[in-house]
Amino acid sequence: MGDLLLLQRAAEVAHFNTPGLRALVSDMQDTMQHANGAGLAAPQIGVSLRVVIFGFERNERYPDAPAVPPTVLVNPVLTPLGTDEEAGWEGCLSVPGMRGLVPRFARLRYQGFDARGKAIDRTVDGFHARVVQHEVDHLDGILYPMRIRDLTKFGFQDVLFPGQEPQDD
Ligand code: NI
Repeated sequence: MGDLLLLQRAAEVAHFNTPGLRALVSDMQDTMQHANGAGLAAPQIGVSLRVVIFGFERNERYPDAPAVPPTVLVNPVLTPLGTDEEAGWEGCLSVPGMRGLVPRFARLRYQGFDARGKAIDRTVDGFHARVVQHEVDHLDGILYPMRIRDLTKFGFQDVLFPGQEPQDD
C-alpha cells in the first residue's frame, strides 16, 4: 500500500495465449499460493495489466468461505445485480496484517476471458462475489481500506481476532 502502481488504472490485455501472459499468470499463481491468498491482481506483483486470479478449495484465512473455482480472469467487466450489499471482513496481500469490514454488492455478473482468450461469463453471490470485487478493484487503483465506511472496523488482524492463526497475508 502506498505504491503508485496500486493506485492507477491497469491497462487492458491486448493479446491472449502469449508466453508473456502465461508467465505472468504463473508468477501470480506462485505468489498467491505462497501467501495462501484467496486472490491476487497483477498490479500487486508490479504488472499494470487487467489480470486477476482467485479461487480455492478451502482457505485458512477464510475458513468459513465456500469453495470458489480457481479462475484466471482477464479484462474483467463486473455488473452488479441489484443494489443489495453485504459487509464482510477482508484482508489483502498488499496491506499485510490488517483486516477491515467492507461493504460489497451481494450478487453480480462478471465477464472476461481466461489466459487463452476463452470467454468467461458467471453470475455469483456471497464470498465469490466479494473476492471478484476486491480483485477487480485492484485494477482500478482501489484498495479495500478505501471502501471501509466505518473506520472503527479496520485494524490489525491479531488485535481484531485474537487467537486466530497469524497470517502473512
Ligand atoms: Ni488485495
